[in-house]
Amino acid sequence: MRSKKNLISFDKKSRVFELTNSEITYLMKIEESEVLAHIYFGKCVAGYGDKKNYPRRDRGFSGDVPLNADRSFSKDTLPQEYSTNGEMDFRTPASIIRRRNGSTLLDLRFDSYSIQQGKPRLTGLPQAYILAEEEAETLIITLKDRELAIYIDLLYTIYTDRAVIIRSVNVRNESGEPIQIEKLASLQLDFTNSGRFNEVIALPGAHVQERQISRQAITSGRKVIESRRGTSSHHMNSFIAVVDKHTTEFTGEAIGINFVYSGNHAFELEKDAIDQLRIVGGINSHLFSWKLASGKSFQTPEMILSYSAQGLNKMSQVNHRLLRERVARGRFQYKERPILVNNWEATYFDFTSEKLHAIVDEAKELGIEMFVLDDGWFGKRDSDNSSLGDWFEYQGKLKNGLKGIADYVHQQGLQFGLWLEPEMISIDSELYRKHPDYLMQEPGRTPSSSRDQHVLDFSREEVRQVIEKQLRSILDTVEIDYIKWDMNRSLSDPFSAALGENQGEVMHRYMLGVYELMEHLIADYPEILWEGCSGGGGRFDAGLIYYMSQSWTSDNTDAVERMRIQYGTSLAYPVSAMTAHVSASPNHQTGRETSLKTRGDVAMGGVLGYELDLTQLTEEEKRITRLQIEHYRQLRQTVQYGEFYRLSSPFEGNTAAWMFVSPNKEEAVLFLGRILASAQPVFNEVRLAGLEESAVYVEKKTGNKFSGSELMTVGLYYPDFYGDFQTELLYFTKI
Ligand code: DGJ
Repeated sequence: MRSKKNLISFDKKSRVFELTNSEITYLMKIEESEVLAHIYFGKCVAGYGDKKNYPRRDRGFSGDVPLNADRSFSKDTLPQEYSTNGEMDFRTPASIIRRRNGSTLLDLRFDSYSIQQGKPRLTGLPQAYILAEEEAETLIITLKDRELAIYIDLLYTIYTDRAVIIRSVNVRNESGEPIQIEKLASLQLDFTNSGRFNEVIALPGAHVQERQISRQAITSGRKVIESRRGTSSHHMNSFIAVVDKHTTEFTGEAIGINFVYSGNHAFELEKDAIDQLRIVGGINSHLFSWKLASGKSFQTPEMILSYSAQGLNKMSQVNHRLLRERVARGRFQYKERPILVNNWEATYFDFTSEKLHAIVDEAKELGIEMFVLDDGWFGKRDSDNSSLGDWFEYQGKLKNGLKGIADYVHQQGLQFGLWLEPEMISIDSELYRKHPDYLMQEPGRTPSSSRDQHVLDFSREEVRQVIEKQLRSILDTVEIDYIKWDMNRSLSDPFSAALGENQGEVMHRYMLGVYELMEHLIADYPEILWEGCSGGGGRFDAGLIYYMSQSWTSDNTDAVERMRIQYGTSLAYPVSAMTAHVSASPNHQTGRETSLKTRGDVAMGGVLGYELDLTQLTEEEKRITRLQIEHYRQLRQTVQYGEFYRLSSPFEGNTAAWMFVSPNKEEAVLFLGRILASAQPVFNEVRLAGLEESAVYVEKKTGNKFSGSELMTVGLYYPDFYGDFQTELLYFTKI
């Protein structure tokens, strides 16, 4: 049996691998004929006695394992750890490898294993990391094709104290001839027919409607949750959770699966004929085909599995902590984020120095800490149809140039931020006139345009270098505290002039190129706060968090729709990564009118900013804004780095409620929102979570005192709201 000191062990007699800490256990077994079977993943097991063996049964049309005459042992029904094509397993394969003779038949058998202290670093990919070797162990199980020297390494990292397993896969080709990887998932998870996981939660959406929570029964057949847009996308985020149908926010089992990657992804779920569930997840095999020469290897991005036996809130918290503490990096990892004003919804492209100075002056008066100059400062950019690729300042648009505005902002005591969209090119640009071949397109075929822009072929080093040089010259000459890295279209025309026949590599090589450029810049400009963006939240994923401390959650700044977007986002991502701005009313995206209080209360549920023409505020609005900012400064640490709890879902009813609790449980912030008014309203109530039972908390506005237990069991009524779109923010401190 496992020595208590180790997180990972292998029992030679039972041939069981066990990864376990005080939270979780993961079990696998080398079965007959060296087939690697999955046994269990979930709540930690005090001791496993090797009794849950695969039940033998001869089933019609479920074939045998080659070289094993036992008709009752079949890969078609065996819960496996990692599958491929061609072993009479007719379920969704985790990998497909094509050989020179055209065959995709492989037969993976256990070859060897190793257990390492710590976690190996991946090259060129975002990843979960460790700070000390002692905090994790990694198991590498190598499967090998029965005939050829093609090896598949399955990597599993378990931390000492987190309910997570990090998985990835590495294929090594030593077969003496090139192979073509048509599919290589980062994980496969086979569940037996225990009925444990019968529903899947995904985060579908659209531009200005990101990460809407969808929860569906897993029924017979296949379901694919994917993006084919070259990004993790607005349309289907790269996160899923599998749950029991009775799982709630506070009870029941949940496994969150978070892909540490920002390009095309796919989660395939298949419920087979005997109600077993297979999940395969990784880079989308659509448009993917990778040539691997003999002697070379290919490493997939990682998947984070977060487990909870206490509902979805716990699953999210496990996930948030891992992303905050072991994926996010840099100076801002634990730093309170500045409250900024962004000029986009205030001016769009139509700004002058005078206008910007007036906004900066007002921002200073209100206590705002940073001014961000958005799109329109470069090339000859006055609308969205030109100049992408020309990262030099628009001569004459700003009276004293970019440096002038940056200096002005700094003189007023604010920080200065700037918008960029490095991956794109406009046909109307100097870059295009000089290098029309830099575009991602098939020569001789007109590529699809979107927002009047095209994608640069970032799979090519020389293309990245030209952009990098331009960006560095801006960053070296202007004092910049923050960069917003935008990306405003989906990828199309996946063709690279540099790849010859290997066009199936473009989408992934593009992503590797983007990551490489981001890595160069964040390494050389560590003082800068980097914010990711893709037309709002089109690239809000666990991969980007490795490079960019925060991301613009959505171009939709309507407070009511934001309640849903932020609620959905919180399922997978920490609040410290989620930016939220107060914008004008009526809202520019929906035309809805909401009070400044409602807009502020919702935006204070994330990293707060403002995005409206501050010079148009009335004196009363300025007073409210000043108070909001003061208030947020007090709450900021708890909101951005506390434990987040979802209490009432705006996807399910007329209310939304969430709260933040500081790690020492001394402070808590409660948000309450009611969407539509009624002349005969129900009495809405809420029960809080995460507080210290026996502690006494005082609510700041009313001075009312409560025990933690009272707030969490008896709860509170919502205020007697009058009118649509009403909110309240309550602040509790322990006394
Ligand atoms: C899309 C972003 O999400 C907006 O905030 C803004 O930066 C525009 N792009 C500018 O083009």
